[in-house]
Amino acid sequence: MNNNEDHKDKLNQDLLKAFTRILNLLILLLVLVFGLVIWIFATHPLPQLNFSFFESEKEETQTSQVVVNSNSSGSSAESKPVVNYWRPPDENELNNNAEKDLILYGKDIIVHTSDYFGPNGKIFKNNTNGMNCQNCHLEAGTKVFGNNYSAVASTYPKYRARSGTIENMYKRINDCFERSLNGKPLDTNSKEMQAIVAYMKWLGKDVKKGEKPEGSGLKKVEFLDRAADPEKGKLAYTAKCASCHQADGQGIMNADKTGYTYPPLWGPNSYNDGAGLFRLSNFASFVMYNMPLGVNHESVQLTKEEAWDIAAFVNSMPRPHKDTRKDWPKVQEKPFDHPFGPYADGFSEKQHKYGPFQPIVEKSKSLTKK
Ligand code: HEC
Ligand code: HEC
Repeated sequence: MNNNEDHKDKLNQDLLKAFTRILNLLILLLVLVFGLVIWIFATHPLPQLNFSFFESEKEETQTSQVVVNSNSSGSSAESKPVVNYWRPPDENELNNNAEKDLILYGKDIIVHTSDYFGPNGKIFKNNTNGMNCQNCHLEAGTKVFGNNYSAVASTYPKYRARSGTIENMYKRINDCFERSLNGKPLDTNSKEMQAIVAYMKWLGKDVKKGEKPEGSGLKKVEFLDRAADPEKGKLAYTAKCASCHQADGQGIMNADKTGYTYPPLWGPNSYNDGAGLFRLSNFASFVMYNMPLGVNHESVQLTKEEAWDIAAFVNSMPRPHKDTRKDWPKVQEKPFDHPFGPYADGFSEKQHKYGPFQPIVEKSKSLTKK
């Protein structure tokens, strides 16, 4: 009996010992794991960790990095949250798409517009000035803030103040043919127009109706508190743009004269004065975040002063004229930088062309409130 109880006791003690040993081991293990985690955190900066549950810390770290960077480069120190910019759909997915060929044809027209419609165009000779849509809608209309097409399918048809009507995609595309490419519109039923529309619809297929994804179109440059200055712009142009677009602004054609290696910025083969880029804000926004070739919205080379001054210089040089008297049928809907009167606000054509723009915008706000 006694013996048996002793034995039980010993067993209990042994169990207890084993248990504490396991507990000790567990604690040791925990300490080790904890140490390891701390060590990883200390040696690897958070943004390099790709675990999704670190997302929020990651954003904070990156935000502070953005601030540090912009401080050291002397530009605006505004802190920017990390944004999910729009990305085009993957072309490999097209294998399951019945419209694959049409969509890729549309893309090719955007990239090599001049091959089809330029001075030696194979579909329609001399229909355009020889520029490509891609010259202004970079990377086939897919670059973030490179004037991309991400919001076209989702926002058209829509009311546009320039025509004072509801415009569909065909009308908007032909606008660029007639203005940016200083040419003639395409037949809405042509295979080429259908292809361009199919391509844009495919690009925007994941964008909800009515929405504009982050990074669509152009990123606006802040206003200057003075008028943009063509003289200063000329100096900056010579230093930063002329190497490609040439001192005379005419660009350089490719060897077989089917399109431009460096597109023209003014002169007979450039966009006309009814085009989007003829408005200083569009030009400044485009070049600020896309030029010289290779920059993007996260690494710019121009100051905002240079962007506006170059816009003023380039858009004061000669270019084809378009009769735009029917544009902006409602005078009060004219944009602040439309350089042709009449206006509802009493500011001059000169100020509407070169600025300062802030007073115009404020006046227009007070006019619409009344
Ligand atoms: C010289 C530059 C230039 C060229 C070349 C050009 N565009 Fe544009 N395009 C613009 C600008 C700038 C805008 C934005 C204008 C605005 O918002 O007022 C624009 C806007 C558009 C839009 C509307 C985008 C939106 O989100 O609302 C479409 C569609 C378009 N272009 C299609 C084309 C097509 C197709 C071609 C070729 C046939 C072309 N563009 C060639 C400068 C150009
Ligand atoms: C390294 C060469 C290079 C430099 C430097 C350069 N660009 Fe460009 N630029 C290009 C090319 C190439 C395109 C057409 C892009 C495409 O088709 O993909 C272009 C397109 C443009 C366009 C739209 C098309 C047009 O002709 O209207 C504008 C506007 C423009 N550049 C302005 C500028 C300005 C302003 C500067 C100086 C701040 C500048 N570029 C510097 C190569 C350059």
